[in-house]
Amino acid sequence: MKIAIVGASGAVGQEFLRVLDERNFPVDELVLFGSARSAGTDYTFRCKSVTVKELKHNDDFKGVDIAFTSAGAGTSKEFVDTITKYGAVMIDNSSAFRMDADVPLVVPEMNAEDAKNRPRGIIANPNCTTIQMVVALKPLEQLSHIKRVHVSTYQAASGAGAAAMAELEKQYKQIAKGETPTVEKFAYQLAYNLIPQVDVFTENGYTKEEMKMYHETRKIMHSDVEVSAMCVRVPSLRAHSEAIWIETERPISVEEVRTAFAKAEGVVVQDNPEKKEYPMPLFIAGKDPVYVGRIRKDISNPNGISFWCVGDQIKKGAALNAVQIAEYLIREKAI
Ligand SMILES: NC(=O)c1ccc[n+]([C@@H]2O[C@H](COP(=O)([O-])OP(=O)(O)OC[C@H]3O[C@@H](n4cnc5c(N)ncnc54)[C@H](OP(=O)(O)O)[C@@H]3O)[C@@H](O)[C@H]2O)c1
Repeated sequence: MKIAIVGASGAVGQEFLRVLDERNFPVDELVLFGSARSAGTDYTFRCKSVTVKELKHNDDFKGVDIAFTSAGAGTSKEFVDTITKYGAVMIDNSSAFRMDADVPLVVPEMNAEDAKNRPRGIIANPNCTTIQMVVALKPLEQLSHIKRVHVSTYQAASGAGAAAMAELEKQYKQIAKGETPTVEKFAYQLAYNLIPQVDVFTENGYTKEEMKMYHETRKIMHSDVEVSAMCVRVPSLRAHSEAIWIETERPISVEEVRTAFAKAEGVVVQDNPEKKEYPMPLFIAGKDPVYVGRIRKDISNPNGISFWCVGDQIKKGAALNAVQIAEYLIREKAI
């Protein structure tokens, strides 16, 4: 297949190179795109050097089968016609089209089939915090309908891109040397801090990130579930963590939940309080599955279950999820 990556120099773009290789994805030809800033940069893929081209309105996407795009919503909106005009399937990591009625929003473990119905040739990859939560919610929804979710997120610096991750590392070094830390990518110094704001605020007092978790979860799960999120940026480098409380239609037991998680696709249970075993972002970074632990009954609600969930948001929350969508389409001969 001829594969394009748009935003190749970015945190997600670089992960695409690793994931495509790791999974032996059938790539006959790879083309990389970026802005004028990264055009001309060489990246190695399967021992061959590939040079980044500047993304322009031209015929560069002729013959491309799948375009993995991760260059921000503005770029996706501006270039969607150029990318799809010769039939390339655009699997987009930005928020540009996620809530459009004629664009499927897909987490393969949950709603892979939706990817087949793509009238505009676009498939949207959900927000990273939503992807890992939905992977964990799927087996529980099968036990009993989930009516309500409360979630508090602990989001790594790299969720805001490669430069944001570099800024956090730089801040720790600057502080250690007694210098004033550089603050450009976040509203405040993130080193030794937590910032209870991810993305901009909306009229109802929630941030856009929190409202994405509400709307996207409902669309992916085809559900009337109510989701109330509190999203917080934390000074870890990679992998997002989430404390999740769910309310189901009938009470479900911890044993049922454990068994359902253990059988679920893409989920690993790491839950042994006596041995201090639970998932942590430091150890989950770079891994494919979504990890769950601290599973318990919610003492404030007879129909409630609470657990902790950690996933690599650049991998399962972005590149891996998109590649899994493409693999599904190939398997189903739907491309
Ligand atoms: N980081 C995450 O954890 C994560 C997770 C899920 C989804 N996403 C989404 O994925 C997208 C990329 O995120 P990221 O974290 O990889 O950001 P990033 O590290 O800042 O990289 C941004 C990429 O976009 C490219 N780009 C920017 N403007 C462009 C333009 N006009 N034309 C062509 N390329 C352009 C950049 O190329 P240059 O180097 O040439 O500027 C760079 O390769 C965003 O929409 C983000 O919301 C990110």
